[in-house]
Amino acid sequence: MSDLLKTTNLNLSFGSIVVADNIDFSLKEGERLAVIGQNGAGKTTFINICTGLIRPDSGNIYFADEDITKKSARAIVKMGMVRSFQLPQVYSEHTVRECIELSLAARDNKTSLFKSLSSCVDQKEVYEVLTSIQLLDRSDVLAGSLPEGHKKLLDIAMALVLRPRLLIMDEPTSGVSSQEKHEIMRILMGVLDKYKVTSIFVEHDIDIVSQYATRVAAWISGAIAADGAPDMVLNDPVIQEQVLGQSFSRTEPNMNTVKLVKGVS
Ligand SMILES: Nc1ncnc2c1ncn2[C@@H]1O[C@H](COP(=O)(O)OP(=O)(O)O)[C@@H](O)[C@H]1O
Ligand SMILES: [Mg+2]
Repeated sequence: MSDLLKTTNLNLSFGSIVVADNIDFSLKEGERLAVIGQNGAGKTTFINICTGLIRPDSGNIYFADEDITKKSARAIVKMGMVRSFQLPQVYSEHTVRECIELSLAARDNKTSLFKSLSSCVDQKEVYEVLTSIQLLDRSDVLAGSLPEGHKKLLDIAMALVLRPRLLIMDEPTSGVSSQEKHEIMRILMGVLDKYKVTSIFVEHDIDIVSQYATRVAAWISGAIAADGAPDMVLNDPVIQEQVLGQSFSRTEPNMNTVKLVKGVS
């Protein structure tokens, strides 16, 4: 199977700080990759480079075998690579339903001065999206007043409306209470499975990583220090010491039950 996303010899420095250090990376369709790493390791920068928000100093990025290194962020979205940000980008003054309607109208270029927003879009699709992210009963709530977890779901649903082949989520559970995190991820991963979307998610909670990733890549100082099956990466002594921190313990030998005693930063 060919790669959906690939980078070759990607380099970027901000002054004396190397934020991308010769990154060779590839992702196949269907993978669910968790990206882990301490704050400042270069995870967000890597996403910014892949999605066209920042240009690398050197190296190339390919999406579905096409060289996208010089393409605009907008063109990359149109090709099917969509990302969400650490802070959810919802229209706070609009209701949940309107947020989905606005995304659909923008996608299909269907806004009109003479028609209401809701009559510009396919209400069946609005219903389907709201149902799949389990926000149908909150349709009329203002997006800005949703709890953080639901805001994240809405934000990602707005990204999914664009029908991506690859969705990159930068810390989808940050700011979400630990009780809510699993529920949010369960809903999110269910939707991604339903729409057959390949995904990358940056995550600091090792329980979430173990449970939802099919592969893990660990970033240290702008480079990928380990990349492979979750068990392998999370058991790597270098990763345990430098990424996960020393106060990290397991409740059982099985890495699926790894518990993080102190949060990684
Ligand atoms: N636009 C920028 N200009 C200068 N330095 C930046 C910029 N963006 C990020 N950095 C620096 O690059 C490093 C990596 O940042 P980032 O990719 O946000 O890390 P992470 O997402 O892993 O926490 C940090 O030291 C950060 O301060
Ligand atoms: Mg970041």
